[in-house]
Amino acid sequence: MPRDRDAAGRARNARPRDAAGRPLPHGATGVERVPDDLVLTADEAVTEAQRLLDDGLPFPAHDVLEAAWKGAPDHERELWRGLAQLAVGLTHAQRGNTRGAVSLLARAAERLGGWEARCPRGSTSRAWRAGRPRGRTLSRRASRSAGARACAAPCRPDDALRAVRGSYGARVTEAVFPPGFFERDDPSPDTVFYGPPRLVEHIDARAIAAVGALYTELGLDGEVLDLMSSWISHFEHPPRRLVGLGMNASELTANPMMAEHVVHDLNADPVLPFPDATFDAVTCCVSVDYLTDPVPVFREVARVLRPGGPFVVTFSNRCFPTKAIRGWLRTDDEQHLQVVNAYFALSEGFGQVRGQLRTPPGPGDPLYAVWAPAK
Ligand SMILES: C[S@@+](CC[C@H](N)C(=O)[O-])C[C@H]1O[C@@H](n2cnc3c(N)ncnc32)[C@H](O)[C@@H]1O
Repeated sequence: MPRDRDAAGRARNARPRDAAGRPLPHGATGVERVPDDLVLTADEAVTEAQRLLDDGLPFPAHDVLEAAWKGAPDHERELWRGLAQLAVGLTHAQRGNTRGAVSLLARAAERLGGWEARCPRGSTSRAWRAGRPRGRTLSRRASRSAGARACAAPCRPDDALRAVRGSYGARVTEAVFPPGFFERDDPSPDTVFYGPPRLVEHIDARAIAAVGALYTELGLDGEVLDLMSSWISHFEHPPRRLVGLGMNASELTANPMMAEHVVHDLNADPVLPFPDATFDAVTCCVSVDYLTDPVPVFREVARVLRPGGPFVVTFSNRCFPTKAIRGWLRTDDEQHLQVVNAYFALSEGFGQVRGQLRTPPGPGDPLYAVWAPAK
């Protein structure tokens, strides 16, 4: 008999669970579980899931959203699955499982983002209104709560998204990454550390070549912004117009590919000093680990990119340890790919994210890349 699967694709476990969804021994008294065959209207499911999230109970919220997923018509299933994954990601975060939280929330954001873009408002709205309770309901308490807090107007799927984001949107970065993740050993303003110019190569020749080869492979050209830049930008073929943004004017002035540059501290002000849709591509080489509030910076990158223009983030396993965020220092290369993937997903400004190790096995600095096109 095929085993039931949850939103993360794992086989469902019938053992009792505690409030955070941790399995308890067979026979123990766990919290009341949402029945697998629960059927709620969309309004009820969203309202109840929202109530549980507001109460700090993402695991039962996931049960509700998963039940909605299983009972949803085909064209809505991906939305509900994404919402259920979001609640699973928050459950992982609640349990201190950063890796699981990053992975699930990134998948949820990708799934929900794609669904939102495709949402056919009118027809989905009609389908939504047609939904009626058809079976078992949640506990009486939950039903009462759902009734009391039901939307005045019929809920559409994008209302559901807004409801969940409204609750967690502003705090989602904190929900994904544990406390202290973005702190640094040296919290002094970056102007101090980056005051003296460093005209050095931060990665070896093989890793530099891998950066240039990726830029060529992706066809980066036209107007390009090199974020967190210095005196080298690693292109095999310089783009038509390269603009640099970094901390040190002497380093940027020494960059032979650069048409112009701006000195700007992204940790003091994430707003990029450029109009919307200014660039065909944005690069950021071996520097993403120094950002203390990366998601607004990624959002800004999406804003200054022309639609479809790629943001290419590359990194190795070397850094200035006192200026890198603690979360980066305490995670490995594979996890760094997931961390950067999460920055892209949480910014909600990009399409499909790709991540790869770009250097072959062997001695030398590894070079990883994560990139995605602006929406
Ligand atoms: C390891 S270097 C990499 C430089 C260059 N991207 C490269 O590939 O050689 C880190 C760079 O990040 C930049 N940087 C560090 N903190 C920054 C901040 N708060 N705002 C803007 N740039 C920053 C510095 O100017 C420095 O050049």
